[in-house]
Amino acid sequence: MLDECGLDSAIAWYVRGINQRNALHVEMQMPRKLQRLSKEAELAVFRIVQASLTNIHLHSGSDKATVRIKQDGEGCTVIVSDTGHGIPDAVLDRSSQTKGLGVGILGMRERVKQLGGRLEIETSGNGTRVKAMIPGHHFRTARAVRHRHFIAEVQAEKIVSNEDKVYLDDSPRT
Ligand SMILES: Nc1ncnc2c1ncn2[C@@H]1O[C@H](COP(=O)(O)OP(=O)(O)OP(=O)(O)O)[C@@H](O)[C@H]1O
Ligand SMILES: [Mg+2]
Repeated sequence: MLDECGLDSAIAWYVRGINQRNALHVEMQMPRKLQRLSKEAELAVFRIVQASLTNIHLHSGSDKATVRIKQDGEGCTVIVSDTGHGIPDAVLDRSSQTKGLGVGILGMRERVKQLGGRLEIETSGNGTRVKAMIPGHHFRTARAVRHRHFIAEVQAEKIVSNEDKVYLDDSPRT
């Protein structure tokens, strides 16, 4: 579903489901159309939103959360925040040895690291903010999009050309 619909629709659908259940109210702040990211990066962002909202619901004591997604030349940033009581010190102390953490936070950290990004968690008695940054090379580039479009046209036989001049892949031209 994620790869077909894109991150914007998938997150909107997920958040709508939570809001309908009325236990947690989630405010969304993101552009209506997000630029597509690589499959792994979109999955990572979706999982971070899921795991963070689950944590807020189960552990924060807050019934409100905000999901913010920004994209610019640097990449994609996702911030999930709440105004609950914060991650207990005991959990944070143990987290330096990664023992206090469940699969949730460790999983997010691992995914983001594999993508070359960064995960920051700020927490206090006033709430928690999970911020993940995915670097720009995960955008599906204009070149890649043009390339797919070209192949689609060739396949639809809209382009009639001399075989010597048509290249369907990125291999060096001789
Ligand atoms: N938003 C939050 N507010 C308060 N405490 C939190 C929040 N998010 C996480 N925590 C604390 O940090 C701990 C670790 O979270 P993590 O998601 O890694 O594991 P978990 O939720 O306990 O288990 P799971 O593996 O099912 O996610 C939680 O048990 C909880 O004590
Ligand atoms: Mg969790």
